[in-house]
Amino acid sequence: MQVKLLLLCLALPWAAGAQEPAAKGESAYTDRGADTCIKCHDEDSKFPVLSIFKTKHAQPADPRTPFAKLQCESCHGPGARHAEEVPEGQKQAPIMAFGPKSWVPIEKQNQVCLGCHEDQARIAWKSSPHGGNDVACVSCHQIHATHDAVRTATEQPDVCFNCHQRQRAEFDQPSVHPVRFGQLACSSCHQVHGTVAAKLLLKPTLNELCYTCHAEKRGPFLWEHAPVPEDCSNCHTPHGSIHAPLLTKLPPLLCQQCHSQLGHPSIAGTAGGLPGGAPSAFVLSGACLNCHSQVHGSNSPSGVKLMR
Ligand code: HEC
Ligand code: HEC
Ligand code: HEC
Ligand code: HEC
Ligand code: HEC
Ligand code: HEC
Ligand code: HEC
Ligand code: HEC
Ligand code: HEC
Ligand code: HEC
Repeated sequence: MQVKLLLLCLALPWAAGAQEPAAKGESAYTDRGADTCIKCHDEDSKFPVLSIFKTKHAQPADPRTPFAKLQCESCHGPGARHAEEVPEGQKQAPIMAFGPKSWVPIEKQNQVCLGCHEDQARIAWKSSPHGGNDVACVSCHQIHATHDAVRTATEQPDVCFNCHQRQRAEFDQPSVHPVRFGQLACSSCHQVHGTVAAKLLLKPTLNELCYTCHAEKRGPFLWEHAPVPEDCSNCHTPHGSIHAPLLTKLPPLLCQQCHSQLGHPSIAGTAGGLPGGAPSAFVLSGACLNCHSQVHGSNSPSGVKLMR
């Protein structure tokens, strides 16, 4: 019985967690840290291991960084057994590895990062759509790289589009928020590490988000247009649309989702919405905005019908 239990422990060496002190039969930390590792993982290796030395993680003078602690093993866990020379044709003992293809469960990988980074920005990570759906920190971040694409506005969208295909198509529409050109990033509107707001928005409500950049739409207006303070997405889509500017539909259809044709027709040859009537003075090809130009609200004393 005791023997059986012992074998189980040996078969699951990672079950104890890479960051915890090495248990019996598991690997221990190396004596010389990075120096041991880079004997084999040197400039000749296919994977660019050494570029980490040019990143913020490799600042031994900063006591919070991995290189002020156990160096490579702060992230990769105890590696003494892995670092042992093995006879030709044999494999190195396993070591903590990262990424979606790693043998280590993603939750365990993320725990290593969160060990140092579970601060204000990632306080809601575990309950977020990313944290809750087993997305790895390193599905977005590159650690052994001098340049982390996801934190560069022009390159960030492509990282996201790897998983969010539909949004790729949305940002290819004729009318878009200028994310393609790096003027905005996805992270200008989304807090990808988790928030209390729906859809990972940076602000508690959609309108609060829009007002951060389009402050003039907040008003206050003498004459409000009710659907505007209610929700900008009554008329706009946030990413992209075939109808400029970012409209869900074009007028008159846009407007007539809420406003009846009756009494204010927009189809020629109708009156009160009925066929055969006299032409209406208000038709004008359904261009509601030609007259009601202040669709977001008006501050003119005579702007009650949003015309000025
Ligand atoms: C004696 C040479 C040697 C030393 C020393 C060494 N490694 Fe390795 N390491 C290898 C080889 C060879 C591989 C390729 C994969 C294999 O055969 O297991 C590898 C693979 C890895 C991997 C990928 C594992 C995977 O499952 O994909 C990581 C991570 C790694 N090493 C980190 C380290 C760290 C950290 C150290 C220092 C503690 C270290 N290595 C020391 C030879 C070495
Ligand atoms: C801050 C955490 C961190 C530190 C410190 C770190 N690594 Fe890594 N390492 C990673 C992550 C994450 C990956 C997965 C690839 C990526 O995102 O860049 C990785 C990948 C690797 C790989 C390639 C594994 C594969 O799947 O092929 C090797 C080898 C490796 N690291 C060795 C080292 C060595 C040697 C050091 C010390 C000089 C080191 N690492 C320091 C986090 C770290
Ligand atoms: C031992 C602690 C430690 C571990 C483990 C760790 N980090 Fe860090 N990380 C730091 C520190 C310290 C900084 C520098 C913060 C600063 O300068 O404000 C940093 C910076 C970063 C940055 C910003 C880099 C920059 O250039 O501004 C990213 C992204 C990051 N870490 C991601 C990760 C990920 C992903 C992992 C897991 C694979 C990880 N870290 C593991 C301590 C750690
Ligand atoms: C969906 C992609 C994505 C995932 C997954 C992700 N990040 Fe980030 N991360 C970003 C983006 C984008 C930024 C830059 C924008 C910002 O600061 O919010 C960033 C910035 C950072 C920074 C530097 C700025 C700061 O907030 O301190 C750190 C550190 C970091 N991430 C750590 C992590 C850790 C740890 C994980 C896993 C628990 C993780 N990230 C998962 C996309 C991601
Ligand atoms: C490795 C795959 C992956 C990457 C890369 C990724 N995501 Fe996600 N994302 C997911 C998964 C899985 C979910 C949760 C399921 C869903 O809603 O599709 C999600 C959810 C979201 C949501 C919330 C959706 C909702 O309905 O609540 C937003 C917003 C989001 N991601 C934005 C981003 C942004 C911005 C980036 C790039 C910085 C990014 N994602 C990168 C996989 C990814
Ligand atoms: C101008 C702000 C803004 C930008 C920039 C932005 N988003 Fe969004 N995104 C939103 C809003 C607002 C919603 C919520 C829509 C809703 O609730 O109807 C949203 C929703 C989402 C969703 C959830 C699914 C959906 O369509 O409702 C995903 C995934 C997403 N965004 C990914 C991205 C990615 C990836 C990028 C960058 C390529 C990005 N977003 C850029 C504002 C933005
Ligand atoms: C981080 C800043 C930012 C946020 C947040 C933001 N926008 Fe924008 N918006 C922009 C920029 C930049 C442009 C492009 C302006 C230009 O081209 O002159 C733009 C353009 C627009 C346009 C005009 C598009 C066109 O084709 O001319 C509309 C409509 C719009 N935004 C609506 C919204 C709505 C609705 C929200 C909230 C969901 C929102 N914006 C949130 C920055 C932002
Ligand atoms: C009732 C429908 C409707 C609602 C609700 C609405 N908009 Fe608009 N918006 C429009 C129409 C129609 C246009 C085009 C105006 C034009 O062509 O003169 C427009 C144009 C815009 C533009 C680009 C031109 C400009 O005026 O700067 C921005 C930015 C914008 N809206 C932001 C917002 C924001 C932010 C909200 C929420 C606070 C919002 N809109 C709510 C219908 C609406
Ligand atoms: C999501 C529903 C909705 C959409 C879409 C919408 N409206 Fe409105 N609109 C309202 C509501 C609600 C009121 C307030 C009605 C009231 O006070 O009786 C209003 C008021 C108005 C008024 C002032 C009416 C009055 O009696 O003072 C005008 C003019 C108007 N809308 C024009 C438009 C135009 C033009 C469009 C298209 C660009 C449009 N609306 C799109 C819901 C909408
Ligand atoms: C030729 C200018 C013109 C056009 C085009 C026009 N309107 Fe009007 N609209 C008016 C005038 C003038 C009034 C005020 C009528 C009154 O006070 O009796 C009005 C009133 C309204 C009202 C207030 C309710 C009512 O019937 O009095 C709504 C809602 C409205 N219009 C919506 C629309 C919509 C939706 C469209 C596009 C299909 C549109 N308008 C096109 C001039 C126009």
